[in-house]
Amino acid sequence: MKSTILVTGGAGYIGSHTTVELQNAGYEVVIVDNLSNSNENVIDGIERITGIRPAFEKVDCIDWDAMQKVFDSYPNIKGIIHFAASKAVGESVSKPLLYYRNNLVSLINLLELMPQYNVEGIVFSSSCTVYGQPEILPVNESAPIQPALSPYGNSKQINEEIIRDAIHSGASYKSIILRYFNPIGAHPSAEIGELPNGVPQNLIPFLTQTAIGIRAELQVYGNDYNTPDGSCIRDYINVVDLARAHVIAVERMLENKSKEQMEIFNLGTGTGLSVLELIDAFEKATQVKVPYRIVGRREGDIEQIWADPRYANEVLGWKTVESVDDTLRSSWKWQQKLREKGVM
Ligand code: NAD
Ligand code: WQD
Repeated sequence: MKSTILVTGGAGYIGSHTTVELQNAGYEVVIVDNLSNSNENVIDGIERITGIRPAFEKVDCIDWDAMQKVFDSYPNIKGIIHFAASKAVGESVSKPLLYYRNNLVSLINLLELMPQYNVEGIVFSSSCTVYGQPEILPVNESAPIQPALSPYGNSKQINEEIIRDAIHSGASYKSIILRYFNPIGAHPSAEIGELPNGVPQNLIPFLTQTAIGIRAELQVYGNDYNTPDGSCIRDYINVVDLARAHVIAVERMLENKSKEQMEIFNLGTGTGLSVLELIDAFEKATQVKVPYRIVGRREGDIEQIWADPRYANEVLGWKTVESVDDTLRSSWKWQQKLREKGVM
């Protein structure tokens, strides 16, 4: 068995898929999650996929004493993947202090505890949000960081600076910062997937809930942008492809494959798709119609962004392999499973 990895937020969407890939790669996983945006039955789903039940501690990462007890209970933790955060852009505008406390204090606790327990490195979940609307597309890691459009985006920018400053101050641990574009899809088993609380803010969960009849229609937020069909463009990355990148990042950190103490990688497909193209792709891939209506723009939306993933491709030896069609089919299969189980 390889090292033990602490996965904060491991009951969440990306964390649960990453736990599966870590276990497949032979890592021992300890999940810490306060279940503020997930459910403990996700742990059951992970076990059904891999046959291995990860250790799970229902703990709030901003609770210093509770986090110290986690490290005392699992002295073999060698690396951390820090997913735990509040991530709803709109909510962050109305509750900025909750977002700053949750997203900043959780990271600071980990960085302060790591040296005490000889934890060698931390992989941090960042976001392409830090780029705002890039001047040049596709966007690479040297693109300028632009003033955040939300407290959520700002918390990610500040997190990255906290890691940089902690390492600059002499901390011995390593860090790999992964800037995700738009993760979509579900594990092909449909045992785990994206399960947002309440009305989904993100496109794909709203789209699949519309396709299955939970929502009457999908509202497309604007078709008057300066793009070929007028709707916004994003880089939609399969969540399992994204999870696999985390395993590579952990191996790179713990096997000292890099002389850099801190590295940053964009994780995207390198291809942009518009909202209308995605709806069309979903209908073709699933043969299911999605009723939609064009409405006004959503405040805070940027017009278009997609990744230049060459740095991650070349340095990590990682690239996306799952097709958009298979990814959209996995989202649909997951939505149908939720219906079968009476979840929604
Ligand atoms: P998610 O909400 O599904 O997962 C986050 C998990 O963290 C949840 O299970 C939640 O209960 C837990 N959590 C939150 N605060 C916590 C705390 N204080 N202590 C313990 N657990 C806590 O979100 P996700 O989509 O899986 O995102 C994971 C990470 O990736 C987040 O940091 C998010 O900002 C980042 N990210 C997500 C996206 C995306 O589109 N999903 C894009 C870019 C970056
Ligand atoms: C995608 C596109 C919408 C819903 C957000 C966060 C980002 C990251 C990923 C955390 C946009 C359009 C959406 C709908 C629509 N999260 N849309 N109707 O906004 O690119 O990124 O999630 O890190 O930080 O900002 O993702 O899925 O909300 O929207 O037309 O009902 O779909 O306008 O163009 P977004 P999204």
